[in-house]
Amino acid sequence: MDLGIAGRKAIVCASSRGLGRACAEALAQAGCEVVINGRNRDQLETTAAELRQSTGATITAVAADVGARDGQQALFAACPEPDILINNNSGPPFRDFRELTREQMLDGVIANMVVAIELTQKAIDPMLRRRFGRIVNITSGTVKMPLAGLDLSSGARAGLTAFFAGVARSVAASNVTINFMLPGAFDTDRLRSNIQANASKQGITFEAAQAARMNMIPAKRFGAIAEFGAACAFLCSAQAGYITGQNLLIDGGAFPGTF
Ligand SMILES: NC(=O)c1ccc[n+]([C@@H]2O[C@H](COP(=O)([O-])OP(=O)(O)OC[C@H]3O[C@@H](n4cnc5c(N)ncnc54)[C@H](OP(=O)(O)O)[C@@H]3O)[C@@H](O)[C@H]2O)c1
Repeated sequence: MDLGIAGRKAIVCASSRGLGRACAEALAQAGCEVVINGRNRDQLETTAAELRQSTGATITAVAADVGARDGQQALFAACPEPDILINNNSGPPFRDFRELTREQMLDGVIANMVVAIELTQKAIDPMLRRRFGRIVNITSGTVKMPLAGLDLSSGARAGLTAFFAGVARSVAASNVTINFMLPGAFDTDRLRSNIQANASKQGITFEAAQAARMNMIPAKRFGAIAEFGAACAFLCSAQAGYITGQNLLIDGGAFPGTF
């Protein structure tokens, strides 16, 4: 399927590994020029070289903290008027909510809510002028299905979802869409480190903890990041212009509700 976005310019935040990388790769395969980002420069440059090799697309690597002002400036210096913005960032670690300090709570809200709003503020007006824009926010399945210990992540991301729900309707007439992708368990470094932490806590092997986690999912496996990237590219396609303000849960059936 031709997604109709060849030549479009995309910024994909936090994309040297994992879900962000998969989104960058799928957009590059669709013919977009892509800015990728991460803090570790070596990892980022390796990923950029791999994506150039696998897709033939123009890939620009911006080594920066997406949450920092100068990091955001660097992203927009590399691509001043993106057609596509994928908001992604790391999430706070598991923690009992009683242990969270005020500072940690504010940091979590900044990382998983404020940063995406700041980047969208920078990107949206040129999108409105050009009458094309696609903004996708990577949040989490925990926005819909809570998980004790990830309360700060869930709360900040739910806040972002509610914040953009109104914004999405205010820009829809200009062919600018704002959607959310809610991953369940995808096979990434982050998931593997969570499983390792669980295994150590329970005194079992990584393999045993992984099998137990997979067994909780109706699909009986973790998601492949390419599946996530392909769905992201579709939400950014020309054909997806009538889809806005939506939350796409991709979790192998883990959420037990009908809707
Ligand atoms: N994987 C899952 O199953 C799953 C499920 C639910 C929600 N999520 C959420 O989805 C998001 C992505 O998860 P993932 O599994 O893809 O994580 P990951 O495999 O750990 O990859 C994270 C990526 O983000 C970059 N990054 C992290 N912090 C950054 C920052 N401050 N500035 C710029 N780049 C940054 C990392 O590079 P550097 O470290 O070099 O900066 C890396 O490229 C996270 O918010 C996570 O909580 C994931």
